[in-house]
Amino acid sequence: MDPACKNSFHRRICDGDLVIVYERYDTMKAIKVQNGSEFQNRFGVFQHSDWIGRPFGSKVLSKKGGFVYLLAPTPELWTLVLSHRTQILYIADISFVISYLEIVPGCLVLESGTGSGSLTTSLARAVAPSGHVYTFDFHELRASSAREDFEKTKSSNLITVDVRDIQGEGFPEKFYKMADAVFLDLPQPWLAIPSAGKTLKCDGTICSFSPCIEQVQRACETLRSCEFTDIRTFEILLRTYEVKEIKMEGYSNDKGTASALPCKRQCSDGGSISERTSRITVRPSSESRGHTGYLTFARLSVTS
Ligand SMILES: C[S@@+](CC[C@H](N)C(=O)[O-])C[C@H]1O[C@@H](n2cnc3c(N)ncnc32)[C@H](O)[C@@H]1O
Repeated sequence: MDPACKNSFHRRICDGDLVIVYERYDTMKAIKVQNGSEFQNRFGVFQHSDWIGRPFGSKVLSKKGGFVYLLAPTPELWTLVLSHRTQILYIADISFVISYLEIVPGCLVLESGTGSGSLTTSLARAVAPSGHVYTFDFHELRASSAREDFEKTKSSNLITVDVRDIQGEGFPEKFYKMADAVFLDLPQPWLAIPSAGKTLKCDGTICSFSPCIEQVQRACETLRSCEFTDIRTFEILLRTYEVKEIKMEGYSNDKGTASALPCKRQCSDGGSISERTSRITVRPSSESRGHTGYLTFARLSVTS
């Protein structure tokens, strides 16, 4: 499989593949397809054998007529279903990080800590097919769980996970002046910034994610003292909307004016309430995520 391509474009579901079984936007699950196994939910029992050979995106039926969709495990969906071993980055921050760090195919990216691998999976897709992500976490179990996840999502050829205390030891010397971008999600990023600076190519970019503004202040001071320039901090807030069909009373009068009313009312112009109609409405989701953290970006300056 060419990891640069969206796998649903040119692949049919095979035995052993990971699929996202999608019921609705807030109910989905990652399942490994195994011939002979079945998946059960409130809509019935689904045989995995019925899924094999179908293209990603297929709508499949249970024996009792219920259905689910079988979607490809894209980084966006994977972020929503992965097992949270740590706090993770979500897609609003991830998109901004990839864009602002200028990560493109072929880039060499360093990351610490790996955590649950939410960001790493998107970084891998951005650098594919010829780039690579080297990610470091000092927690052995988290590192090995992340490795297993990258195997499942078929991104392990683009990612190397190593166990290392990046705040204490810094990034390995073999990366000095090699990295296009560095991403830090560490409790004391200022301890890792001097080493990150050594790994970056001239004009390379760095981003540090921190939940607290005090961490941001210390990171900015260190960035400035390590020859970084164009230091900027952002907070990315995402507002999602719910699209819903609601039932309304239909209303018309003798001038032929018709409208839909959300509730019954006195009709002084002789109009009358007729049969119920439905309307599509949109409103901000009550579950919109608030503050997750601050993203501080900087660029390694070139001294000639
Ligand atoms: C919040 S998680 C990272 C989440 C990740 N960005 C994601 O999207 O899934 C922070 C990680 O940093 C790791 N960590 C903390 N201190 C570290 C250090 N000194 N060196 C390497 N990793 C460290 C922790 O073990 C943890 O897994």
